[in-house]
Amino acid sequence: MTGDQEAVDRARHAFTDTFGGQPAGVWAAPGRVNVIGEHTDYNGGFVLPIALPHTTRAAVTRRTDGRVAFASLQGEDAVVELGLDELAPGRPDDWAGYPAGVVWALRERLDGGLSVLVDSDVPVGAGLSSSAALTCSVALALRDLVAPELGPADLVELARRAENDFVGAPTGILDQSASVLCADGHALFLDTRDRTSQQVPLDLRSAGLALLVVDSGVTHEHAGGGYGDRRQECEEAARRLGVDFLREVEDVDRLAALADGTPEGQVLMRRARHIVTENARVLEVVAALRDGDDPRRIGPILTAGHESLRDDFEISVPLLDAIVESAVGAGAHGARMVGGGFGGSAIALVDTGAVDAVTAAVGTRFEREGQPAPRTFVTVPSDGARRLA
Ligand code: GLA
Repeated sequence: MTGDQEAVDRARHAFTDTFGGQPAGVWAAPGRVNVIGEHTDYNGGFVLPIALPHTTRAAVTRRTDGRVAFASLQGEDAVVELGLDELAPGRPDDWAGYPAGVVWALRERLDGGLSVLVDSDVPVGAGLSSSAALTCSVALALRDLVAPELGPADLVELARRAENDFVGAPTGILDQSASVLCADGHALFLDTRDRTSQQVPLDLRSAGLALLVVDSGVTHEHAGGGYGDRRQECEEAARRLGVDFLREVEDVDRLAALADGTPEGQVLMRRARHIVTENARVLEVVAALRDGDDPRRIGPILTAGHESLRDDFEISVPLLDAIVESAVGAGAHGARMVGGGFGGSAIALVDTGAVDAVTAAVGTRFEREGQPAPRTFVTVPSDGARRLA
């Protein structure tokens, strides 16, 4: 949440120290929290994220020697450098794979190569989409430098390809869409099937509300394990129901067909039930916000979303459950884990005057669980990716 000018100066200086010369520009893209609509994105469903004020900044310039080089101010001191023609899915295989994946997806346009320095205040491993902030900042830079015809939807797709096809993380398009398309003061209502989206005004502050983010400190990893399993389970459930995407199922009664008496059928039924009920929750929240209802009304819908992720989708962890329980116990209107699961952050919808009490209650609970105090912050819907300089 560094001020724009300060962020530009810092990135420029670091770029010059690392590569010599000046960057052609500095671009920023934010992390996100999803208000509601979890794991619906690869099921053709609905999502409702906001962009965070936290961003990744990319200072970028073209080169002429056919090489690509990546440097980060976040604790990685070595520059990762290789020939443009050496880029291949999985290579480089560290953090630089994310920006490299974007370069790779546009490699025909970039014969001379590129130098990239990134600086970020998006918490890493906290389920707040630091990877989308990274890919989207570089995608926007490349649009301005070599591919001016690319529209916002193309940038989302470019960042998705970098993550799915190059890094090998089987994510949907929630994070990249939020990072590119979100607008200040609004939540992004996105239909991931046809990729149409609308901005839904979300002015919590004038309703006397705050959105509190609590990082559980449990880190998650999407390239491996549970996330991919859930995706496969959803695909299998859709196949058995004879639909392309679970989004096409609106009535939970239809899911009874999955419960064929086997434990596997029972699991698929619960996974699918999360998706079907979660899509309905997104529509309910959007309707409440559009009708100008008191946003407090969405609180219980958020908590129901958490329970569904915990019980039916089984991707919560005890510390996330503890955050939700203690926040609601201390007066939050609703709370839920956000993101891919198995760690990361939770959000709580809290009266402005109750932020301290809720934060303290969560802190006490962590202490009781023998955990270090969690990082917490109040967030507001912020702007999507943009050029800073
Ligand atoms: C991660 C993925 C997204 C989405 C969420 C869960 O953040 O990157 O595509 O599936 O998990 O909603």
